[in-house]
Amino acid sequence: MPTAPMPQFPAGFRWGVSTSAYQIEGAADTDGRGPSSWDTFARTPGRIIDGSSGDVACDHYHRYAEDVALMAGLGVTAYRFSVAWPRVLPTGAGTVNASGLDFYDRLVDELLAHGIDPVATLFHWDLPQPLEDAGGWLNRDTAPRFAAYADLVAARLGDRVKLWITLNEPFIHMSLGHGMGVHAPGRTLLFDAFPVAHHQLLGHGLAVAALRARGSGPVGIANNYSPVRTVGGSRADAAAAATYEALHNRLFTDPLLGRGYPTELGFDTAAVRDGDLAVIAAPLDVLGVNYYHPTAVRAPEEDSPLPFDLVPLTGYPRTAFDWPVVPDGLRELLGWLHRSYGAELPPVQITESGCAYDDTPDADGRVHDPDRIAYLDGHLRAVRAAIDDGVDVTGYFVWSLLDNWEWAEGFTKRFGLVHVDYHTQRRTPKSSYAWLRDVIAAARREPPR
Ligand code: FCB
Repeated sequence: MPTAPMPQFPAGFRWGVSTSAYQIEGAADTDGRGPSSWDTFARTPGRIIDGSSGDVACDHYHRYAEDVALMAGLGVTAYRFSVAWPRVLPTGAGTVNASGLDFYDRLVDELLAHGIDPVATLFHWDLPQPLEDAGGWLNRDTAPRFAAYADLVAARLGDRVKLWITLNEPFIHMSLGHGMGVHAPGRTLLFDAFPVAHHQLLGHGLAVAALRARGSGPVGIANNYSPVRTVGGSRADAAAAATYEALHNRLFTDPLLGRGYPTELGFDTAAVRDGDLAVIAAPLDVLGVNYYHPTAVRAPEEDSPLPFDLVPLTGYPRTAFDWPVVPDGLRELLGWLHRSYGAELPPVQITESGCAYDDTPDADGRVHDPDRIAYLDGHLRAVRAAIDDGVDVTGYFVWSLLDNWEWAEGFTKRFGLVHVDYHTQRRTPKSSYAWLRDVIAAARREPPR
């Protein structure tokens, strides 16, 4: 258990928790919601490790008031959730499902009634299936459709949402969803997935313009980042690491911050049309950073289809996901963003940070998760150190409030501050919840520094 007092954070620092629609809402066929790419993927045998789906998940759609009360008890000042596009527009475009918008309207009001800032992500991977059938993000038309959907949601919620996040982790959606086939929609295009990157970014830029045209903001995007470590000392290893750096950390951030696409990846950029890069580079109010762990890379084997090999990063404790626990990686990453992008870097909020452990209730029904406490303690200190290094970090959102449905891992990975019994839907705050509640309470009491 950490014992040293947590250092102070700047006045107004945002303390939050983060979730996404498909992972918690359930109610897959309720009140007019349409099918999504994740419904289709999860229902395909062999795709999800435990054969489950998000059909019910945490039943948050019906239990949102209980979940907002849990947030209020934690003392967070913000909640990052995602809007399910297929709940609002069951076919992706055209007819609006009023009940879907009503749900988010109720959720936002409930948050505000508890003094919690609503932070809304517009796309957290659950594409309406009819759009997927039309090519999904490989189809350029999905970009303007995303902007039209963003406009519609902003028309309803824009007076109350405190921060918009357009896309969640476009890199992971491209690489795991379209490159490797591990996530929906399950395509295995490897580097031919580049149009998915470009069309997501174009959709982002068009959505930013749509939100601003409504006078709604501020606006950001949540990217996944991973500091790259080289294994092996050869020039080929260093080149592989540089390539991976360009792919994971720069492919999205460079064009967002006005630098265009990194050229060293050798992508076929036929999808990029005149004017697109200017749309994509619309100024951001916030850069969302999702950080879980660094990545170790070495030169590829001769027959590898990729220009790098990913290898396990050894020498660190590991989570139940087998991810290495490297709090300093977050400080390193924030420093890298600060040095690489300088004045172009907007204020940063850590939009996701967290860990999975096999948390189970003890005989008294309590859930002790000391490893998560140590994890959060280390990562919060890393954020504070990065602020001392000069990086403008204005918030930290824990992934996640609740144990939830973890994509291809189904219900086997528990990331919550709150344990969920998926049979009864009983919520039990873990010891990390009590720990974080005390940290937030102390931080909000402290005089600003
Ligand atoms: C991130 C996703 C989030 C969750 C965490 C563990 O990549 O954005 O939905 O799955 O990983």
